[in-house]
Amino acid sequence: MMWIFLVLLVLPSGLSSDSCPANGQACNQSAKRKAFWKSMRQEGLELKLRRKTVEEKAFGGQPAHNRTAMVLSDDVFYGRAIMKIPRQAVLTLETTREEKLRKELTGFLFEKRKLEMLYNISSEDYTHLLSLAYPLIAERRNPESVFHEWLKATENASVFALQLTHRQKKVLTGTTVEDAIQEMAYRKHLILDTASNLTFFKKKSVTQAEAVWALAVIMRHGRVVHPYQDQRDVRNPRMYIFPLPELLDVAMHASPGVAISFQEEVIIDGKREQDVVVQIARRDMPKGEEIFVWPGRLSNSEMIARHGFSFRENPIGIGRNVSQPPSWSENKNAKGRKEYDLYNCSSLEAFEMRFSAEGYPMRNFVRCYRVSWFITNGWYSPALKSRMRELNKWPPPEKYTKSDWLSWTQADAEVNRAILEYCQSMKQQLKDTMDSDTAEDFRHSKDPVDRVLWHMRSEESRTFKNCIAVAKKIKM
Ligand SMILES: *[C@@H]1O[C@H](CO)[C@@H](O)[C@H](O)[C@H]1NC(C)=O
Ligand SMILES: *[C@@H]1O[C@H](CO)[C@@H](O)[C@H](O)[C@H]1NC(C)=O
Ligand SMILES: *[C@@H]1O[C@H](CO)[C@@H](O)[C@H](O)[C@H]1NC(C)=O
Ligand SMILES: *[C@@H]1O[C@H](CO)[C@@H](O)[C@H](O)[C@H]1NC(C)=O
Ligand SMILES: *[C@@H]1O[C@H](CO)[C@@H](O)[C@H](O)[C@H]1NC(C)=O
Ligand SMILES: *[C@@H]1O[C@H](CO)[C@@H](O)[C@H](O)[C@H]1NC(C)=O
Ligand SMILES: *[C@@H]1O[C@H](CO)[C@@H](O)[C@H](O)[C@H]1NC(C)=O
Repeated sequence: MMWIFLVLLVLPSGLSSDSCPANGQACNQSAKRKAFWKSMRQEGLELKLRRKTVEEKAFGGQPAHNRTAMVLSDDVFYGRAIMKIPRQAVLTLETTREEKLRKELTGFLFEKRKLEMLYNISSEDYTHLLSLAYPLIAERRNPESVFHEWLKATENASVFALQLTHRQKKVLTGTTVEDAIQEMAYRKHLILDTASNLTFFKKKSVTQAEAVWALAVIMRHGRVVHPYQDQRDVRNPRMYIFPLPELLDVAMHASPGVAISFQEEVIIDGKREQDVVVQIARRDMPKGEEIFVWPGRLSNSEMIARHGFSFRENPIGIGRNVSQPPSWSENKNAKGRKEYDLYNCSSLEAFEMRFSAEGYPMRNFVRCYRVSWFITNGWYSPALKSRMRELNKWPPPEKYTKSDWLSWTQADAEVNRAILEYCQSMKQQLKDTMDSDTAEDFRHSKDPVDRVLWHMRSEESRTFKNCIAVAKKIKM
């Protein structure tokens, strides 16, 4: 009897003996995990969430279905945290438990800037992809991972575009996302190829399956986190992984106004400082309201290429074609760039032609393209700043009443010309890349993937057709 007594004594407090299976080792691991999550709760971990089943009507090639939603388990007032996650429970390069990997990867990616040197890749996207992919793979290889439950739940994660059959890939050709498969395959290749240069993976190299899994998990569960308040000017937002099973059921919402972003913060709780990532309520929110995360700046077509579904309403239009104006420069210090910044035309994204299903261009494009026309043609005046509403307005008014009506009319004609040219070329491209046999095959297919793909193609055709109709109605 004596030894049973002893075993009970060494169990960490808060654990009952019946949570211990016969297998001693497994028991120990699960005890360690429990202890970790208990300490995370002491460090401030808090998720004011509970599961709820909601009915979803048929949409976007998907049948009606019930899905799990995460809703508030309590009222949350303005400025209070909906979720509070200690940094140690977040998966990033800085928090990875593999110290050797952290040192090597930090040197490789950020100190020696190898990606930039070897592949001429300067985009932060790829650096961040790798800085998450390897900690994820290392964590998955660790049988004692404290994130075991979450890792198990994501074991079958996949990227929609990479799973398509040859027949299905044809449906992407000619659409705005025809490069998606190549883009995703390139990222997978980068994860595999770069791993071969890390001594951490010398003994056991990264496999295809691991690379695809890591890519899919990052695409699906990576969340943009804004840096600490005092670092916002010097650091861009970063992508983090929250390996908490509860977060897997949080749905995505296309509107960044509804889906609240995450931010890093140091919170003082009593006398203790808590280093946490938080999602803060921007208004009083009642118990039961659904909580969402933002998938990023993705049109419905881009959503389908990545995730296999789209939104009923999406403020990010279909398209992507960038028209970089001659007077715009990537260089923040270039001459004339300051003017663009005043109108929020600070990134090339603002010059992307993207359209709503009804065929209207996004406001950013109209505003920024007009501004660029005024600058390029010598009509720019700082007084333009007070005419933001007119700059955003599309279609333009039938008549301008101010004395500079001629320049505005000319700018509008140029905006409309660019729009019409793009939409006509996209409509033609969609037509040229589809034959009647394939169309017939997909139109009547019952396969769920086929249906989503066909829906996407139809939405693109409709969008560009409507765009042409809207452009032609505008009298110049
Ligand atoms: C449990 O884990 C601790 C620490 O890793 C180890 O010292 C101990 O031997 C383990 N006990 C069992 C029963 O596996
Ligand atoms: C969703 O759940 C409700 C209630 O449980 C049920 O009546 C309904 O048939 C379900 N809908 C679908 C599409 O499964
Ligand atoms: C690197 O990329 C930049 C911009 O993407 C390009 O202008 C430059 O020519 C490239 N350099 C090399 C050596 O490929
Ligand atoms: C992953 O796929 C396998 C094989 O189809 C299945 O047995 C397993 O339950 C799946 N795991 C999850 C978490 O869905
Ligand atoms: C990694 O190693 C491969 C083969 O040795 C080489 O071709 C590649 O350029 C290296 N990549 C990086 C990022 O160091
Ligand atoms: C520019 O962006 C900021 C921050 O997103 C916003 O507050 C401001 O209203 C925007 N200005 C214009 C002209 O859209
Ligand atoms: C953008 O569209 C025009 C046609 O309007 C086309 O000539 C051009 O190649 C496109 N550019 C890109 C990057 O797709």
